[in-house]
Amino acid sequence: MIYAEILAGGKGTRMGNVQLPKQFMLLDNKPIIVHTIEKFLLNDRFDKIIVVTPKEWMNYTEDIISKYIGKLESIAVVEGGSDRNESIMNGIHYIEKTIGVSDEDIIVTHDSVRPFLTHRIIEENIDMALKYKVIDTVISAVDTIIQSEDGETISDIPVRSTMYQGQTPQSFNIKLLVESYNSLTTEEKAILTDACKICLLKGQKIRMVRGESFNIKITVPYDLKVAEGLLKGESGK
Ligand code: CTP
Repeated sequence: MIYAEILAGGKGTRMGNVQLPKQFMLLDNKPIIVHTIEKFLLNDRFDKIIVVTPKEWMNYTEDIISKYIGKLESIAVVEGGSDRNESIMNGIHYIEKTIGVSDEDIIVTHDSVRPFLTHRIIEENIDMALKYKVIDTVISAVDTIIQSEDGETISDIPVRSTMYQGQTPQSFNIKLLVESYNSLTTEEKAILTDACKICLLKGQKIRMVRGESFNIKITVPYDLKVAEGLLKGESGK
């Protein structure tokens, strides 16, 4: 089975004082999360699309999916977790409980607030995850990356040609991700913000899929303006 998991369990605090978590804000008259779900619906290889969202926003999420997309058996809304990795795992627990997981099953996890991913990126994630088990989507770093341990002085300036920026989707063989996550200590779980890093820590080889510079994550208000511009470019308006 091939699953998509749309991560919408966050509150969007960096977006500032908005009434709605950013994934529900409108982009060209449609919630950002709907744009994202639509990209996944265009791919018929998914058996199910799981949308994880904060408990208090679950009804709202179901309502907007019904309103903009329709009631679909292939979409399930599931309660998110207290951090991003926990949200991913909640989606997987839902699969374990309702369908069961076999050795070959994969999950393509994606930030709900990256509505500009492409069909190619999704296809390559699926193909590579079936073959190599753990996949991250990345773009080459454009700027030189500066590392600082104390926030005041530079500790390292790595060679730019070896630097990439992580995007999503991140895709996993489900059993391998669960095994890796369950072997983490509570302290490791608390500091690990990236799901691929869980597998990296456990010695798993991770293959890269090329992302796109326009596959942006809407994080701060400025990003919403960029997203509006990108959408106009997409539709030629
Ligand atoms: N996410 C999630 N579950 C969480 C936290 C985050 O599913 N407990 C999701 C967000 O909804 C988002 C994606 O992970 O789609 C990327 O995270 P980020 O941009 O950091 O989102 P927020 O946590 O909502 O933002 P902020 O850090 O500004 O509060």
